Amino acid sequence: MRTVLIVGNWKMNKTASEAATFVQELSQRLPDTSTGVELVVAPPFTALESVRMALGTSSPIQLGAQDMFWEDHGAYTGEVSAPMLKDLGCRYVILGHSERRTLFGEQNDSIQKKIRAALKHGLRPILCIGESLTQRENGSTDDVVTQQLRESFSGFTDEVLADVTIAYEPIWAIGTGKSATTEQAVAAHRTIRRVLAAIASPAIAQRTRILYGGSVTPTNIESLLASDQIDGALIGGACLQAESFVRIATVASTARSIGV
Ligand code: 13P
Repeated sequence: MRTVLIVGNWKMNKTASEAATFVQELSQRLPDTSTGVELVVAPPFTALESVRMALGTSSPIQLGAQDMFWEDHGAYTGEVSAPMLKDLGCRYVILGHSERRTLFGEQNDSIQKKIRAALKHGLRPILCIGESLTQRENGSTDDVVTQQLRESFSGFTDEVLADVTIAYEPIWAIGTGKSATTEQAVAAHRTIRRVLAAIASPAIAQRTRILYGGSVTPTNIESLLASDQIDGALIGGACLQAESFVRIATVASTARSIGV
């Protein structure tokens, strides 16, 4: 069984002090999450420490980062490494987000190095993949996600792939208010699972969590999680208000994904 995973990607929002106040509010409002949903917040690097302090040691909310560099240390001005994130208490790291790809020129080969470095240091990568509107309209969604997966995981062993989470985030659905339908997301998730079965193994494909991201809200989360192909969500805008994040977490805590 795959436990539902809800990840809030804050992107470039909230100062360290705003972040601390926000997670305190989040912690107070969260219902009992003993039902097994996994919750992660991914603040900007500058707020990781204040969020960690505000969460304390017994919070059900885990910490994630939004990116990292593949080297451990050295002359890489402006970059942050896996050991640095680990030391700040991060458990997850988002890699290959479409904003990194389109705004900062990130490519599958560098994402592959980042995944490798994250795994080496015990961070769980959340690999983001997804097609543009043009690619969807010309029918190449399956080819795009297949290539992204194959190139990102090139040379990886099955064992290593077991610790990776995939986030299917169609670019046209991000920040647009126009979520993919459950049917569109399920179709892409099936393709992703097929590719994982081919490049790793059917067993790995079955246990890998595949999240959906792109205009997820408290209103559409229930329908998305109703499919056992959708193991959670990577949320942007709706994770920036405590009320909507808590509502999403509440729905997710009663919508368990069971094996396909
Ligand atoms: P929105 O939820 O704002 O569409 O953003 C999705 C996203 O990019 C999460 O990584």
